[in-house]
Order: sequence, then C-alpha cells, then structure tokens
Amino acid sequence: MNPFCAPPTMVTHMELVDAIYKRMSVRQFTNEDVSDSVISKMLTDAARAASGGNVQPWRIYVVNGESMTRLREFLKTKPPVDEPEYEIYPSGLTEPYRTNRFELGEQMYATLGIAREDKEGRRCQFAHNNDFFGSPAAIFCYVDRQMGSPQWSDLGMFLQNFMLLAVDNGLGTCAQEYWSVRHKSVTEFVGAPENEMLFCGVALGHVDESAPVNSLKSQRMPVDQFAKFV
Ligand SMILES: Cc1cc2nc3c(=O)[nH]c(=O)nc-3n(C[C@H](O)[C@H](O)[C@H](O)COP(=O)(O)O)c2cc1C
Repeated sequence: MNPFCAPPTMVTHMELVDAIYKRMSVRQFTNEDVSDSVISKMLTDAARAASGGNVQPWRIYVVNGESMTRLREFLKTKPPVDEPEYEIYPSGLTEPYRTNRFELGEQMYATLGIAREDKEGRRCQFAHNNDFFGSPAAIFCYVDRQMGSPQWSDLGMFLQNFMLLAVDNGLGTCAQEYWSVRHKSVTEFVGAPENEMLFCGVALGHVDESAPVNSLKSQRMPVDQFAKFV
C-alpha cells in the first residue's frame, strides 16, 4: 500500500505530553537491534504531520543493521568533511540564541566531566556524531531542492513526530545536522538523486541508560521570553 495513503492511526499509547518531556537527544545508544518493521510503522505515522498544501516534502532514507555496518565502513573511505550546502547556524548569532547554544555545550561537557580547556576531550565527544553515537539505525532526511523554508519547516514537523514516536516505541533519537557536513558521502551511499538535498540524519536505537551523557536535561527559556499574549 502507498504509505502516503495509510489511514490515520489511533492515538492510544503514551500520553502525548509525557512523550514530549521524555524525548531528548540521546548521545549514547546500546547495540540492540531495531526492526525495519518498527521503523516503517514510525515513518507511516510520522507522515501524518501537517504540511502546507499537503505537499509532504520529506524524503527519507533508512539505514539499519547490515546497511548501517556497511555505511560505517563506507564513511571510513570518504573525506571527513564536504563543502557544506547550508549554514547550520547564522554567522554572528545574536542573543539570546548565542547564549542558549553556548549553555547547551557547557552543560553537555560538564555532564561528561570534560573541562572547558580540554579541547581534545571536546573534539572526541563531538566526533561521536560520526558513529551515530553507537546507534544500530538512522534515517536521513532530505528535501527537494525546489522547496523553500516553508517546506523545510514541514520537514521539521515530520521530524518531531518521528522523534516522539520513537519514545512511544521505547526508543531514543538524536537529530544530527552534523551529517550536513558529510552530505556527499551520505548521498552517494543512500543513492539520493541530485534534486534532493540532505537536511539531517537522525540516530535511532535503544537508549544506554547508564551513559552519563544521557543524563543531560537541556534547558528551555520561560514562556514569557519567547511568546507574547497580545
Ligand atoms: C535539526 C536538529 C539537528 C541537530 N543536530 C545535532 C547534531 O548534529 N549533534 C548533536 O549532538 N545534537 C544535535 N541536535 C540536538 C540538539 O542539540 C538538541 O535538540 C538541543 O540541544 C535540545 O536538547 P534535547 O533534544 O535533549 O531536548 C540537533 C537537533 C535538531 C532539532
């Protein structure tokens, strides 16, 4: 059946708000397998995301188990960095965004006991991105190059659905813009056509509950700092 035609799924699982608070960026996974059928169901459900004009601009490539092993080997043979296709952050990020970003980094390295001056320790932790933080599976999210920021935002809604559905399935995720710096290698491996552009990867697997990095609870600004009742 065409997955875009699948009927809406009844929401009978974990309370939505619980899943929202439970979702976090997991930066250490166990090597326990995830089945293709679970991922396929999550993708079907995630595609219930709203999109302007219902264009459904997301294009997803799944790497799991054996293909993840092949991808890891493949990446070792490729350049560590490709010419980026988009800027992850605007240059000269202003406040309060700059501080938010800085604090996340500081909090993460503090959780890991990596000191500010330990540049090598920080580089090593960052390099775990390249191993999908040990996950057995990942998805890569692409969008057609003809699309603009409205459709990129639609892809973001798909992504949030996917990450919440992972929680509902007892799994964890880490969205990874990191892969945008290796987009050529990823694109060659997954076989995405020229007209599709890589936004990000999402590492997917079982959470290693014993890993200190997974105890990080990222902060949020209070509502009056980002919303105004007019
Ligand atoms: C689109 C997107 C890309 C991201 N890319 C990365 C990444 O490359 N590496 C990483 O460790 N975290 C990445 N993150 C995770 C963010 O740092 C994280 O969502 C943020 O700090 C809030 O923490 P939380 O997800 O635990 O709530 C990404 C998140 C999003 C939404």
